[in-house]
Amino acid sequence: MKVTVVGAGNVGATCADVLAYREIANEVVLLDIKEGVAEGKALDIWQKAPINLYDTRTIGSTNDYEKTAGSDVVVITSGLPRKPGMSRDDLISTNAGIVKTVTENVIKHSPEAILIIVSNPLDVMTYQAHISSKFPRTRVIGMAGILDTARYRAFLAEELNVSPKDIQAVLMGGHGDTMVPLPRYTTVGGIPVTELVDAEKLEAIIERTKFGGGELVKLMGTSAWYAPGSAAAQMVEAIVRDQRRVFPVCIKLEGEYGIDDCYLGVPVILGKNGVEKVIELDLDKDEKELLATSRKHVLEVMAVLDK
Ligand code: LMR
Repeated sequence: MKVTVVGAGNVGATCADVLAYREIANEVVLLDIKEGVAEGKALDIWQKAPINLYDTRTIGSTNDYEKTAGSDVVVITSGLPRKPGMSRDDLISTNAGIVKTVTENVIKHSPEAILIIVSNPLDVMTYQAHISSKFPRTRVIGMAGILDTARYRAFLAEELNVSPKDIQAVLMGGHGDTMVPLPRYTTVGGIPVTELVDAEKLEAIIERTKFGGGELVKLMGTSAWYAPGSAAAQMVEAIVRDQRRVFPVCIKLEGEYGIDDCYLGVPVILGKNGVEKVIELDLDKDEKELLATSRKHVLEVMAVLDK
């Protein structure tokens, strides 16, 4: 399997590294517009192979899309990260043009690829890649749900002093402050979280999750990369190994949850064809209202893109 990661910044390089050391693909092409950066990072990852014992070939490219030809999956991480004080939506004017150009170049050389979008603002950049590629919606998906859910799970693991492995959760909606964590669907080793964490603490954890990206931007002066890069790699793994994993991903909704005009995070089955199935949960009234608010916000940013 061949995977391309476009953007050799922190997120793209982390994703390529995870793909390599976990041998998720035979070949990983890392591409960036900045002269030499992708070649350097790909070479560095390759030189780590004898130490960490993997044989995934990593190849770098300065904007030469020929090298990406025939990729099965393409991860698009290109664009600017946030600076403190910025919202993800503030990145739209710069990143939309970048994602459009990258998508057009990628699909010329890999017309059958599945596209995973990581650039922000995530839901709207997924929209951009979908309209630029004209691929079926099942092959243009955004990475946010795995990341947001991972943050939620990590905070819960810390609170309960248990392994993060045992926390199962799902989170829906846009990748922003209006995301919709679902305590009703959160379990700890099969036990409903509501039996283990009191309502006030749970609410605080949900709030921290919603602003989890911003917390890191504040600390580091730029956006996070380890968890976002690993989350994208986990999506690639589900696809190339046809694992049929159940993950929340961003996809254009076409009637699911009564929505047909918006790109939102929802649980899906992820396999060799990309999204194999969108799972529809039976949301209660409050959850539906939160999802409606999230949709409204994403639609507003989509309208900015349309203009
Ligand atoms: C994240 O959630 O870490 C990413 O969307 C990057 C960001 O700026 O928050």
